[in-house]
Amino acid sequence: MRIEFQTRKFPEVACDMLAYPVFAGEKADSTTLVSLDKATRGIVAAVLGSGEFKTDLHHLCVIHHPASLKAGRLLLIGAGKKEEFTLAILRQIAGTVARAGRNAGGKSVALFDRGDHDPREAVRVIAEGVLYSQYDSTVHKTRDKDERALDKFVILSKGRVARADADAAIDRGTIIGEATNFARSLVDEPANILTPAQFAERALAAGARVGLDVQVLEREELEKLGMNTMLAVSRGSAEPPKFIILRIPALERKARDGVPFHALIGKGVTFDSGGISIKPAEKMERMKGDMAGGAAVLGAMMVLAQLRPRHRVVGLIPVVENLPSGGATRPGDVVRSFSGKTVEIINTDAEGRLILADALTYARTLGVTHLVDIATLTGACMVALGMVNAGVMGTDQKTIDRMRKNIPVSGEKLWQLPLDDEYRRLIRSEVADIKNVGSRYGGAITAAKFLQEFAENTPWVHLDIAGMEYDDDGHPYCSKGATAFGLRTLVQLMLG
Ligand code: BES
Ligand code: ZN
Ligand code: ZN
Repeated sequence: MRIEFQTRKFPEVACDMLAYPVFAGEKADSTTLVSLDKATRGIVAAVLGSGEFKTDLHHLCVIHHPASLKAGRLLLIGAGKKEEFTLAILRQIAGTVARAGRNAGGKSVALFDRGDHDPREAVRVIAEGVLYSQYDSTVHKTRDKDERALDKFVILSKGRVARADADAAIDRGTIIGEATNFARSLVDEPANILTPAQFAERALAAGARVGLDVQVLEREELEKLGMNTMLAVSRGSAEPPKFIILRIPALERKARDGVPFHALIGKGVTFDSGGISIKPAEKMERMKGDMAGGAAVLGAMMVLAQLRPRHRVVGLIPVVENLPSGGATRPGDVVRSFSGKTVEIINTDAEGRLILADALTYARTLGVTHLVDIATLTGACMVALGMVNAGVMGTDQKTIDRMRKNIPVSGEKLWQLPLDDEYRRLIRSEVADIKNVGSRYGGAITAAKFLQEFAENTPWVHLDIAGMEYDDDGHPYCSKGATAFGLRTLVQLMLG
């Protein structure tokens, strides 16, 4: 599919479906709708006057063969309250329009951008939303597949932006949208296919496509280094662990003391059965998505390799499978982490923090100045926040504030949870330096407190995205399944 920018007036746009956002409470006599109403010889006034079209977000009304328009159909789309019309909402609207066009069997769709955002940002998020909307997770279906696809999506604007800027914005949106869909495809992939080795293979192939340097540490190297908390998790699985390191060659040359250097660290558990502390059967299949943090990091690094942040960044993804077997780690085992701290593993299902602990230490050995980790870490975070906000915690308040400030653009909601010192005693061990679980209460926080021990004094942010990796609510702007939640937040952090 091609995404194009045009400044043409909407009556002249020839396409299968022309979409026009309508804000809550808008009447046909509002300044902008007057011209559309005139062009359609009163159809718009009739529709809005009838009350059958709601201007609530994503409500649709299709008008076939609209008078005096070259478009085959006019699609009025509810855009919600004007004052709440963020770039995140615009991204969704673009997705809803693209899906509506495809579902109607259309090949070419156009959307009129009515927002008053920075026009380049508007064009970028529209491109992102269009690509996001066309993804579906049916690669393994051999029949009954929806093969329909759009050929062209046209972004119409009031002409506030130069063509070259608009084209550059489409390119940026396309890079982000494609990396997002790639990350989603990894999360949707079943764990028998996306093993740690396959995750590494796909990272290598993707890296080669976008100019990202991908290095994979094998089990023997992890053993030599002493990354034993990570190795403890993968011991029960026949699949060997992989530690993926992602670098952007052009940025490496900028290495200098005193400039920021970020590590983005993503949890890559390709399947989390819980290990010996095995999970109940219900919904266990969802644990194929327990590498969503890793997928978000890989996707973000693919974007950054193409869009070049100002500062250095490295991506780290510890990838393992957590299964029970005769060789598996037992509750009560004590292991010596890469940092030297000893860990009593009380519950083998609290495996994410074990692999992240060694990854955080590894990042510190590289000399990073900022640590950011992202992980489907705790069910407790889902209990606390539901599937609306991800949890954010950490010692780097500046970065947390920057991430939260970007929510109206990213659409990725983050809610900060506390990390008071008093929570630390909940993970004190009788036999080792620290244990890997606290009590039942405050589970998202004690998990973060565990990670904090390994971030030590390096400024650090932790995103607990448990539950956010899939969206099965059903929205008009995307198919059900993986979301790649966090990718946009990470990209914006590095590019903003
Ligand atoms: N991967 C899970 C967390 C999770 C749960 C992610 C649901 C997505 C959806 C994590 O490894 C886990 O099992 N956490 C345990 C920790 C507990 C044993 C302290 C949990 O949250 O129950
Ligand atoms: Zn687990
Ligand atoms: Zn897990």
